[in-house]
Amino acid sequence: MEKQRIATLTLDDGRKLEMPILSGTLGPDVIDIRNLSKLGVFTYDPAFFATASCTSTITFIDGDAGLLYYRGYPIEQLAEKSSFLEVCYLLLNGELPSDEQRTKFVKRVTEHTMVHEQLARFFSGFRRDAHPMAVMVGVVGALSAFYHDSLDITDPDHRDISAMRLIAKVPTIAAMAHKYYTGAPFMYPKNKFSYVENFLYMMFATPADEYVPNPILVRALERIFILHADHEQNASTSTVRLAGSSGANPFACIASGIATLWGPAHGGANEAALMMLEEIGDISRVPEYVQGVKDKKYKLMGFGHRVYKNMDPRASVMRETCYEVLKELKLENNKLFELAMALEKTALSDPYFIERKLYPNVDFYSGIVLRALGIPTNMFTVIFAVARTIGWISQWNEMMGEADHKIGRPRQLYQGSVKRDYPAKGKR
Ligand code: CMC
Repeated sequence: MEKQRIATLTLDDGRKLEMPILSGTLGPDVIDIRNLSKLGVFTYDPAFFATASCTSTITFIDGDAGLLYYRGYPIEQLAEKSSFLEVCYLLLNGELPSDEQRTKFVKRVTEHTMVHEQLARFFSGFRRDAHPMAVMVGVVGALSAFYHDSLDITDPDHRDISAMRLIAKVPTIAAMAHKYYTGAPFMYPKNKFSYVENFLYMMFATPADEYVPNPILVRALERIFILHADHEQNASTSTVRLAGSSGANPFACIASGIATLWGPAHGGANEAALMMLEEIGDISRVPEYVQGVKDKKYKLMGFGHRVYKNMDPRASVMRETCYEVLKELKLENNKLFELAMALEKTALSDPYFIERKLYPNVDFYSGIVLRALGIPTNMFTVIFAVARTIGWISQWNEMMGEADHKIGRPRQLYQGSVKRDYPAKGKR
């Protein structure tokens, strides 16, 4: 048997603690610090630069090498050869499905795509100009009120049916959020369509006309969904896990993930990147805008990543898709896309970005593709949320299935007032 490797910590007063060094199947070793509190001290790592918060078997990232695997399969292979629902099965169950398993899984998801009629009434409580992400947080959270029959989170069958409902219904709710914003009637899902076709149908069809999904749109969106499906312990996934650790129901947990995803440093970056391009407005303004970034006036949205210090492998695939889509839709000469490509070129050759290892991330290209496909800008992050639902639910399910999971409860470095007495009114 291999000898347990140990890290020894010595405090300045001479006290020592030996801590096991744990190895994963891939990636850096981690020091198990759980016994540190015996010394009466904690670690301090507010933005989790050096902290692994859980064990997981779902997704692996090597940020220096620019690698991303779902259950061991490289993202490039999945993006080229798989489908989004197959990837959902893989993330949730750990293995790719057989033909029979895939057919059954697709059928199950398809049969859950409608939402309760009562749920549709939630929408009218929102202002028409509400951001669709605000609607998503509210309406997906409201699903908690509809499935009392399956909220026993300790029961794997209940967790399974909740996963199916979430994968199936989140696109329906997302499309309804778009329809509500535009004032158009909601479209019920259609079982004859694939998952992605159905989403586009619910987004863009009207009862007045026949809808034929555009294969370019379908393929590009399928890729966007696959590339965004999971990304290990990012901010929204960690939020879902933390919410789940208290025993909250899965619908409430996913709503908390959607809320976290909305921020411009996370999933909101695709929308922010497009808005930035519109603000720049013209290629001639790229150097001036980049100078503002270097002067730290603002960040270049869609660039940089906490983990990737190399090209984000999702961005490489998305970049290819981006060029394909622009070519197929004959949009290469579109002013906005020309500007995006000029910005990409400038940033990739500028020492500020090279030294800091700031590459375009997936959201830079997905924003451009979504715009080219005619998706409204305020739906960009919603689309990310639709895709990431499977990652959130798979990670939540993994945690809930662990025998000894405990409520997540970080500690703090307190820097407030020391104890003081309540002063009388005239003495404040
Ligand atoms: N533009 C300009 N400078 C940047 C950028 C950027 N986008 N990102 C990082 N930097 C600089 C930062 O100012 C710092 O410089 P210095 O060393 O001089 O202080 C250095 O690079 C290190 O950055 P950091 O802020 O310590 O990096 P972080 O790991 O805390 O932040 C990030 C990662 C993604 C939040 C950040 O890069 C960012 O805000 N990017 C723009 C938003 C974005 O595109 N987010 C989507 C991420 S991918 C999709 C997803 O997974 O959600």
